[in-house]
Amino acid sequence: MEASRIALPIGTALDRFIKNNQDQFQYASGELSQLLRDIALASKVVNREINKAGLIDIMGAIGSQNPTGEQQQKLDVLANIRFTRALSKGGEVCALISEETESFVDLNNDGNYVIAIDPLDGSSNIDVNVSVGTIFSIYRRKSEVGQPINEQDILQTGDDQVAAGYILYGSSTMLVYTTGHGVNGFTYEPTLGEYVLSHPDMTMPATGKIYSINEGLSNSFSPSVKAYLQHCKDKNYTARYIGALVADFHRNMLKGGIYIYPATAKDANGKLRLMYECNALSFIAEQAGGKATDGIRRIMEIKPMNLHQRTPFYVGSAEMVERAIKC
Ligand code: AHG
Ligand code: MN
Ligand code: MN
Repeated sequence: MEASRIALPIGTALDRFIKNNQDQFQYASGELSQLLRDIALASKVVNREINKAGLIDIMGAIGSQNPTGEQQQKLDVLANIRFTRALSKGGEVCALISEETESFVDLNNDGNYVIAIDPLDGSSNIDVNVSVGTIFSIYRRKSEVGQPINEQDILQTGDDQVAAGYILYGSSTMLVYTTGHGVNGFTYEPTLGEYVLSHPDMTMPATGKIYSINEGLSNSFSPSVKAYLQHCKDKNYTARYIGALVADFHRNMLKGGIYIYPATAKDANGKLRLMYECNALSFIAEQAGGKATDGIRRIMEIKPMNLHQRTPFYVGSAEMVERAIKC
């Protein structure tokens, strides 16, 4: 964070924090601040639904598939509705890219921002009461306000992000975000209904002892990924894999570690989606001193060709990601 800025203390409410830091943003007009507030509000509603998941009929699959061919859970659809509604109300968003919709959703043509979102990440964890998340990336539109949205507005690279974040619905609920000036984490205080600053200026340890990968798929990993896994074992690292990217990423960010979803025999580009999973976490990782790559390029340099494009993903502590690239 910049030296001239007064550091707000732990316990500061998210609203106040956003307001205090608004002028860090080169287009400061309050729109981005409002957008972050809209996302925070929708996440509180989703948090409430998740907490009730065992009690009302919102668990399990809905019987349909999302655009990348995965079973949609009832809460995937519900979370998508909640975020879409919140983001359309404010008027700041001109287009929304979501895991749950085939093509982008046109919102307010006078809005300045494009959002890419994974409304519910790790949704198969819901039925078994394990952590899930939301991931979002925010871009400025490239075309003039009022013009129809075009491909340039939608298919922006990660380096074009103006803000990104995630919400982790875990043992407590947290919102972590960056606007390119470091990373800050807020914990939800349910009795107040507020996110409060709990993790100011988050940094990722340069190295760690945790590796997170679905090792059940290892028969179809490339020799280089297998070699890196052997290196992890030779170093007596600890394997930790929740199966919800946000939760695995968050743990590794706090403790130091690497998350890998490599190419497999089934998915030559891995499983994770560039636009609404990998870019946001890469922005946060880099802002916190970590790294993110597809094995060859920085994730945020990859030019997307379509909304639901997948990419191999190596993210986490800088030294560990560098070591994995060497393999
Ligand atoms: P989503 O629920 O949004 O489709 O994402 C699931 C992703 C990610 O959260 C997780 O890390 C990964 O799928 C787990 O995949 P495997 O079950 O193949 O390990
Ligand atoms: Mn996901
Ligand atoms: Mn999802």
